[in-house]
Amino acid sequence: MKILTAHHLRLSRRCGLLQQNAPILFPDITYSFYPVYCGLYNIAFRQIPLREDFSIHVDDYAQPNGGIIFPNPNAPTGVLLPLVAIESLLQRNTESVVVVDEAYIDFGGDSAVSLIKKHPNLLVTQTLSKSRSLAGLRVGLALGHADLIAGLERIKNSFNSYPLSRIAIAGAAAAFDDREYFEQTTRQVISSREQLVAQLLVLGFEVLPSAANFIFVRHLQWAGEKLAQALRERAVLVRHFKGERTNDYLRITVGSEPQNQALLAALTKILA
Ligand SMILES: Cc1ncc(COP(=O)(O)O)c(C=O)c1O
Repeated sequence: MKILTAHHLRLSRRCGLLQQNAPILFPDITYSFYPVYCGLYNIAFRQIPLREDFSIHVDDYAQPNGGIIFPNPNAPTGVLLPLVAIESLLQRNTESVVVVDEAYIDFGGDSAVSLIKKHPNLLVTQTLSKSRSLAGLRVGLALGHADLIAGLERIKNSFNSYPLSRIAIAGAAAAFDDREYFEQTTRQVISSREQLVAQLLVLGFEVLPSAANFIFVRHLQWAGEKLAQALRERAVLVRHFKGERTNDYLRITVGSEPQNQALLAALTKILA
């Protein structure tokens, strides 16, 4: 028998997941789809500025909200929020759902899944698109208290009943079974990231600490957009995000060894 407390019921009944009596909160610099989805579903939101060092500070989220969501590590910065900070947020924010989007967690962070037992309002989402190298399969997962999952199921069944094909489910299960391949590829990305960071520092870049498969960098002598354009002319694609605080930066995905070398060779020429 499942025993539901009044608190769990309150949480799961409100619109499945989010509450509508206050805006949902997420960082001002974060995964660009959050505001897009809020617009699409008419959900009020408030963007909480990252601190000067691009970190999330959980004190800034101590305000009425209909839910909180952030990626950990954050995108496009790669900056990781330690589990102790997430736990402190959960202790203070008990009346709405906290979604930790762990799209990139396998590249260097500790998962918040370990906090689910103690915090019924925590939902952790993951995807097979990044560390499992299966973006084309379109599989993701949500982990949380049974009541939260029941709330999600209810919504799913009324507007998107069959999101996963049997082939996708078989592929996802096989990916989780192949622990060795997963460990080998994530280890490889982490070690390439560390090498790439070291080489970019030598070229005069500032690099934010990253726990993801990308890095967020700037060069004091070059505007981000100009540098992205110069790289594009040499067939190297990196992302530039327009915006007051992101203008100087580039998000560079950690590539294969030849790709990283091509990036470094192109940068060396551009900066010469
Ligand atoms: C922070 C974050 N969350 C979630 C996703 C979703 O990935 P997918 O739709 O491939 O599962 C992405 C993809 O770029 C992401 O950057």
